[in-house]
Amino acid sequence: MPAPERIPPRGVSAGAVELLTHGELTVRGQIREASNAVLLCTVAYEGEQADCVYKPVAGERPLWDFPDGTLAQREVAAYEVSEATGWGLVPPTVLRDGPYGEGMCQLWIEGDADAAEPELLALVDGETPEDGWKAIGFAEVGEGRTALLVHADDARLRRLAVLDAVINNADRKGGHLLTGPGGRLYAIDHGVTFNVEDKLRTLLWGWAGEPLPGEAVAVLSRLDEGLGEGCALAEQLGSLITSAEVEALRERVAGLLASGVHPKPSGEWPAIPWPPV
Ligand SMILES: Nc1ncnc2c1ncn2[C@@H]1O[C@H](COP(=O)(O)OP(=O)(O)O)[C@@H](O)[C@H]1O
Ligand SMILES: [Mg+2]
Repeated sequence: MPAPERIPPRGVSAGAVELLTHGELTVRGQIREASNAVLLCTVAYEGEQADCVYKPVAGERPLWDFPDGTLAQREVAAYEVSEATGWGLVPPTVLRDGPYGEGMCQLWIEGDADAAEPELLALVDGETPEDGWKAIGFAEVGEGRTALLVHADDARLRRLAVLDAVINNADRKGGHLLTGPGGRLYAIDHGVTFNVEDKLRTLLWGWAGEPLPGEAVAVLSRLDEGLGEGCALAEQLGSLITSAEVEALRERVAGLLASGVHPKPSGEWPAIPWPPV
């Protein structure tokens, strides 16, 4: 029998969601370096097959600042908001039952070996980044030396900085940025999002305080509408996160629109994840 065709991730969100939701899950292995149980699986449905990650709720490590057993739902909520922006930054992600109970299933993003991907993060000497780079902050690099941590001045990262501010991402590390087919940027690992408290912790501070680009303002205005009481997105999110968290999300979107700028670190919470990758 010929091998079933792989689902290409680009432009087929709906098909991928159907496959992830209804497909038969087969666990292939566990990703060891993960902090929660992260299982690499294949999912097969009506002759189609793809790789995915399955993070069962039962395998979530408890955290002091997020209620137990809610990380999978937050990952799905982050996907729903990413879809609502139209930026498609989060791979298709669903909540479903699996061999270890309910969990999140997300399409596996295979790196594109042929894509000439520019570096997104770097450590450099000096105090000011070169053109094409934005400063994150100074980092200890051993032997009493510090270096400037920088990220690329990249339009895709800038969209992600806006998405992270919206979903209140408490853990945007370098390792959570994946380059998929065609050099497309994907972001993963959204278990610690949507807290009602300001917890934005990210590497993507390079635009802090700068005016939001016009496309971000347009997207935020659309989100603001979509989050109205009784609207489909608000209803969908209401089944994944608490009503207080949906309300806090609305307030963050409205706050970004009112300020018109990329947020700055709050000062009440370590702004940069460590280690950064
Ligand atoms: N959708 C995905 N596509 C490709 N690799 C992934 C995907 N999701 C997770 N991984 C890989 O698995 C690792 C652990 O996943 P992560 O989401 O960081 O788990 P945790 O919830 O434990 O933080 C990632 O660093 C990445 O290498
Ligand atoms: Mg992780």
